[in-house]
Amino acid sequence: MKRALVVVLLVAGVGVVVARIQTPPLPNGVRLTAGDAPSNAVERGRLVYRRYGCATCHGVDGKGGFPNQNAETDGKVPAVIYVAEGYTDRELRQRLLDGTPTVGKADAKGPRPPYRMPGWRAQMTDREVDDLVQYLKSLYPKSAGEKWR
Ligand code: HEC
Repeated sequence: MKRALVVVLLVAGVGVVVARIQTPPLPNGVRLTAGDAPSNAVERGRLVYRRYGCATCHGVDGKGGFPNQNAETDGKVPAVIYVAEGYTDRELRQRLLDGTPTVGKADAKGPRPPYRMPGWRAQMTDREVDDLVQYLKSLYPKSAGEKWR
């Protein structure tokens, strides 16, 4: 009886380990295939946001706030949670593809801000950009306005 239990636990343990080995986290640059991508654009966009390291500059939740010395955007990397307000889908798409080669300075005589928004044209597929647009729009806080929810 006891022995059977040990065997069951062992088999279950091995099963868990194997399942973990088979589903490692996606390394940078690896794309989901159609079969395992979430069916929801916002959820896929969330993965795109994670995969391309947007959080390094904009924060895990898109709230920004990391210092970007002398940037005209309040000396910080801006938040991305309000973009549903200022951009059409098309404009946002363009913004992601082009990036910002030169970030404006708060003080014209001050140093160039160290961080700029990279353009993603060469890296992202059309679908990834579309999904990312939907994800970014979904971040708009409910409390910020009725119009978008
Ligand atoms: C190296 C840091 C860095 C990374 C990585 C980065 N960004 Fe940015 N991003 C910036 C900076 C700096 C700006 C502000 C540019 C400016 O002054 O116009 C910006 C601006 C933006 C804006 C415009 C915000 C607004 O209020 O107009 C969006 C949207 C955006 N980033 C999304 C993303 C997404 C999505 C990713 C990942 C694919 C990403 N960024 C990766 C630094 C970064």
